[in-house]
Amino acid sequence: MPIIYALANQKGGVGKTTTAVNVGAYLAEWGQRVLVVDIDPQANATSSLGIDKRAVPLSTYDLLVRGVSLSRVMQLTGRVRLDLAPASPALAGATVELVSLPQRESRLRQALAVLNTDEEQGKRYDYVLIDCPPSLGILTVNGLTAATDGVIIPVQCEYLALEGLSQLVRAIELVRRALNPKLRLRGLVMTMYDARTNLSRQVVEEVRRHFPGRVFNTIIPRSVRLSEAPSYGEPIISYAPHSAGALAYAALTRELLAGDGRYR
Ligand SMILES: Nc1ncnc2c1ncn2[C@@H]1O[C@H](COP(=O)(O)OP(=O)(O)O)[C@@H](O)[C@H]1O
Ligand SMILES: [Mg+2]
Repeated sequence: MPIIYALANQKGGVGKTTTAVNVGAYLAEWGQRVLVVDIDPQANATSSLGIDKRAVPLSTYDLLVRGVSLSRVMQLTGRVRLDLAPASPALAGATVELVSLPQRESRLRQALAVLNTDEEQGKRYDYVLIDCPPSLGILTVNGLTAATDGVIIPVQCEYLALEGLSQLVRAIELVRRALNPKLRLRGLVMTMYDARTNLSRQVVEEVRRHFPGRVFNTIIPRSVRLSEAPSYGEPIISYAPHSAGALAYAALTRELLAGDGRYR
């Protein structure tokens, strides 16, 4: 059975997609079979992996709303062991369409259930990373409900970083009680750290105080290379493998693997 994590935070621009894509790429590089599931209508994870969101034949929209199977939606990325369930702009309409569908909160979970059986024609994954949109709507609820091994929350090192986190924690608690009893907070990742400012350091301390033992030791620095890589459709591991951002995502992936009892 794969380890399934959702990357969630209702704030936009905090590093959810950057973390999903780059941790996914390092996991794959180190031998894990990885599926990135993009459920954000903006489809940034899809384009960050070099796939044109307007040209995907079937997307997570079809998976969630039309009940199309994962094996038909899934695409290869051109990177070994790294596959993608792409998003498309159509997903924006899913929020409305899902409302009238049965089990509207568990449709992604149902779509991924095939990964726990032997039916999926030979496709096995060690990790599934679900990249959620910047809201606490039905799409994110689907992500949290499908995340059998927990949620990873990227937090940007900026003023008011804690704002909104208690609301997110409450939403996680609600989903745990009603839909996914195994849902746990796998960890918070501090992103876009600027070593030149006291603010970044203070924010990390503050978040660690509020979530003792729940913040990954690895801190992701602000790095121009990380922000450039998506426009080339490449993860940092191939775009700028020696950059500070690459080293940080490698370290975060190592920390994640170790915590999961999977050593490289
Ligand atoms: N550590 C970082 N340093 C510099 N830019 C970053 C970093 N992490 C993310 N970015 C950039 O910030 C923007 C928001 O990041 P993204 O991962 O898309 O956030 P989210 O998915 O939470 O909306 C993107 O343009 C991304 O390239
Ligand atoms: Mg995103």
